[in-house]
Amino acid sequence: MLIACWSVKGGSGTTVVSAALGLLLSRDAAGGALIVDLAGDVPAALGMAEPPGAGVTDWLAAADDVEVDALARLEVDAAPGVRVLPRGSVHEPPTARVEALAGALQADERPVVADCGVGPGFVAQALAAAATRSLLVVRPCYLALRRAVAAPIRPSGVVLVEERGRALSRADVEDVLGVPVRAVVEVDSTVARAVDAGLLAGRLPAELERGLKNAA
Ligand SMILES: Nc1ncnc2c1ncn2[C@@H]1O[C@H](COP(=O)(O)OP(=O)(O)OP(=O)(O)O)[C@@H](O)[C@H]1O
Ligand SMILES: [Mg+2]
Repeated sequence: MLIACWSVKGGSGTTVVSAALGLLLSRDAAGGALIVDLAGDVPAALGMAEPPGAGVTDWLAAADDVEVDALARLEVDAAPGVRVLPRGSVHEPPTARVEALAGALQADERPVVADCGVGPGFVAQALAAAATRSLLVVRPCYLALRRAVAAPIRPSGVVLVEERGRALSRADVEDVLGVPVRAVVEVDSTVARAVDAGLLAGRLPAELERGLKNAA
């Protein structure tokens, strides 16, 4: 199962949602879960040291004889039952191998969550197209919703990162985008503090657990 998380505006909460989903899914998966980091913030969000070696963008930039099996050798341990495939060092990776990557991640026996970052760029589009679920992480923000409507792909569902006092409701978001809101996560200072302190992996805040339990 591949879940692709993406956004249309920076700072929406995509990395936090992706990391939390990976942690939650790992609890019920005997073989653990994998978080694929295409945006570069997942290790920091999980409170890990920056992985020093190559990552998924290096694999995308590698020659054709570097096979999909090589991806597993790039993974690092993040938490009990959770591995991260780090972003790596190639700034704008070539796209010729993106479909092979998407196929390999979708075929993985573990639940796989990809933090596709803001865009969606070409890599995110290919992963979203192959994914079991393509989740747009968005705040109830008019400017973000305009961008989402104009995006080159349509998500299969929305994770709404809800801020108190906003005029736009869940129903407005569903109405504008024409897809269901699968999860609502409140903006909660305990979440921000857990991320800042590097404690997300050790003690997942209750708000993330409650909000995301039906997202996958
Ligand atoms: N539910 C939440 N409650 C409170 N703060 C949150 C929540 N989700 C994310 N944040 C905070 O908001 C900021 C942005 O979150 P995050 O990095 O996950 O967004 P992003 O969409 O991945 O951003 P980018 O576009 O830079 O990749 C961070 O400081 C994070 O700690
Ligand atoms: Mg991010």
